[in-house]
Amino acid sequence: MSNIGTRLIGTGSYMPDMKLTNEMLEGMVDTNDEWIVKRTGIRERRVAQNTATWELALGAGERALADAGLSAAELDLILVGTATPDFFTPSVSCMVQGKLGASRAMAFDLSAACSGFVYCVDVADSFIRAGKAKNVLVICAETLSRIIDYTDRATCVLFGDGAAAAVFQASESEEGVLTTYMRANGTLGECLKAQCLPDEDPLDGSPRAVCEQRFLHMAGNEVFRFTAAAVPEAIDAVLHQGQMTAEQIDWFVLHQANVRILQMITSRYGLDPEKVYVNIDRYGNTSGVSVALCLDEMRKSGKLKAGQHIVICGFGGGLTYGAALIRI
Ligand code: UT7
Repeated sequence: MSNIGTRLIGTGSYMPDMKLTNEMLEGMVDTNDEWIVKRTGIRERRVAQNTATWELALGAGERALADAGLSAAELDLILVGTATPDFFTPSVSCMVQGKLGASRAMAFDLSAACSGFVYCVDVADSFIRAGKAKNVLVICAETLSRIIDYTDRATCVLFGDGAAAAVFQASESEEGVLTTYMRANGTLGECLKAQCLPDEDPLDGSPRAVCEQRFLHMAGNEVFRFTAAAVPEAIDAVLHQGQMTAEQIDWFVLHQANVRILQMITSRYGLDPEKVYVNIDRYGNTSGVSVALCLDEMRKSGKLKAGQHIVICGFGGGLTYGAALIRI
């Protein structure tokens, strides 16, 4: 094991101004504030209007760099986790790299949907431990509103747009990211699917399959069942690998998919509810953005303190899941 650690040195976020409230949704589909709050914990979410994913990503990235006191020229790697890139190519990360003027940085996108941030943290940690990067900018950015059917109450009440970022830096000692556990279960991929490409023969244009899923579709109950097993599996693994108990953890920062999942984890580990960070009420499910957004809020409000141990955990599209144990 190398004597290099991966420290979190800055965070930032860039959320669209437009708030789509439960009351507004009541006028759009057959739903109501009471159902949404009781079944999900969500009160409002943000929607990006006339803003590309890369623009949100750039805003979050700039703020995280400013918080870290780092210039773009010092970056070795820019990673963007997104399920809603603007183009097949260039990637969101290359758009950001160019706009930032991060002249020395390698840049690529990572597709792990709601696990995007924890997957990116694992990749950033791997590059740093291998000595291939010293400064890494991780950004998660989504414009999920582009793939949401606002006549489908099963999904349109859940998801929101936004971007959040974190800067990681190589440190001399074993600190920062202590251990990680990343997994996928592609056999369940159909449970959360958006199929944006026309599926037709490239030469004669004849349809190969009906493109049913222009919009995001989620088999909510099946994903919930998956989550109920995957999240404890990932948390147990990082606690075990890091030789720590749940009581020793200062914060659990989980993907904000449903407040009932957060409550399930709180009771399973017998946690003080104050230790499980919640902001789903204000932003809904922002896919990979959510964990980074929580970290940014916690850092800015002074909740994250040096020496604390936190567990971050992501789960969702792919299906993917993972967790990391981090010393702040
Ligand atoms: O980010 C990736 C990871 N995502 C997750 O982990 C999400 C996991 N899944 C969930 O969070 C939940 O399954 C949902 C929030 C998506 C759905 O909650 P649920 O408690 O599982 O509801 P349900 O789908 O079982 O539906 C219960 C009832 C149904 O009516 P009937 O059949 O009982 O009459 C639905 O038609 O609620 C109805 N319903 C709604 N009613 C009002 C579904 N959506 C709505 C709605 N407003 N928006």
